[in-house]
Amino acid sequence: MSLRTVDDFPYLDDKIYFNCAAQGVVPESTTKVIEQYIKDYTEYIRGKQKPDAPDYGAVRANSKRLFAEIIGGKESEIAFVPNATTGINTAFGMIPFTKGDNIVLSDLSYPMGATIVTGYQRKGVESKFVKHNKGVIELEQWEKAITDDTKAVMIDQPGWLNGFLYDVKAIAEIAHNHGAYLVVDGTQSAGQKVWDIDETGVDFMATSTYKWLLGGAYANTVGYMYVKEEHIGELQPDYVGSQTLPKEEERANQEDAFSIYEFNPRKDIGAVEVYNQNQFCYVSAENSMKVLLKYGVAKAEKQIKKVDTKIIDGLLEHGVDLQTPVDEKRRLYLNALVPDYKTVCAKLAEEKVSISPRVGGLRISPAAYNEVWEAEAFVEKLAKYL
Ligand SMILES: Cc1ncc(COP(=O)(O)O)c(C=O)c1O
Repeated sequence: MSLRTVDDFPYLDDKIYFNCAAQGVVPESTTKVIEQYIKDYTEYIRGKQKPDAPDYGAVRANSKRLFAEIIGGKESEIAFVPNATTGINTAFGMIPFTKGDNIVLSDLSYPMGATIVTGYQRKGVESKFVKHNKGVIELEQWEKAITDDTKAVMIDQPGWLNGFLYDVKAIAEIAHNHGAYLVVDGTQSAGQKVWDIDETGVDFMATSTYKWLLGGAYANTVGYMYVKEEHIGELQPDYVGSQTLPKEEERANQEDAFSIYEFNPRKDIGAVEVYNQNQFCYVSAENSMKVLLKYGVAKAEKQIKKVDTKIIDGLLEHGVDLQTPVDEKRRLYLNALVPDYKTVCAKLAEEKVSISPRVGGLRISPAAYNEVWEAEAFVEKLAKYL
């Protein structure tokens, strides 16, 4: 039984939507929260706020607690960031690189992460790419590539184009054995995959809210960043501002209480939070995370894999090659190598089937709100173009 047992998803009424890797479908209860928020906000800026309006600041703050629960971390390890891109940039800015270091990443990296890494070439930090074979990267490849000159390892969990799931814990261990930090882009799974992040050794992780967290559309996104407890207060971001002053000095903006003569940053996660006061997007993400937690993150992952497996079985029967492993432990979604895949994708869109053309194949990414019958209907529709 899918997430549709917990909430309504009217968006799905007339289509097959296997495109959560592009944008997640918003639960109806979140849409209602958004409607109410906009109403309350417009009343507020007109000076007509109702005395019983919800405390949206508290809702925003609560979203952090829920995100920590979703990824298996502590609330004190979570920062508000505008999006995944800012979070990943912030993480790299906290790592003490010196000339001659290298960063190891893979050719499955989303262009954003890869660009941040190759950007460090300007500072004399080499980028070392590990290459995939049919969408798979084996642990031995990381073992070979990561050396004592490696200062950071960067992965997306899972690979953005094909849903390939890394053994994050093992990669973290290899990185740490060489004194390197592990930075993970979690945008393509956080919300609907079990992370147990505090158990994995991951040093930094970031995500945006519009995909697997079902927080809303890309045009209205925010993000979360995870910093492993031991680095908080030890590693500082490149950016500082009045928001990163220690809490007891929050009066710094008031008359007679300026604190401007010494550099004295916060020692908690707030040291990272310079950029973002957004409330609206966190309020919507908060409700969607409640929906996901009510259903259960482990159950969500299981449901997704059930639907994926049905699709994969159908595609293999039709002789389709995948650039994703068949083994369900190693994938969250899939990429099918279909001839003329861009045209096929456009034709399917005309039939109200939503997937994405990505790197030579069809990226098919069901979420916990999808059901097995949709997988069967999808294979039938795709079969016409094979
Ligand atoms: C792996 C990955 N990271 C990040 C993003 C988007 O990042 P942002 O929301 O910061 O633009 C995407 C979007 O497709 C993605 O696939």
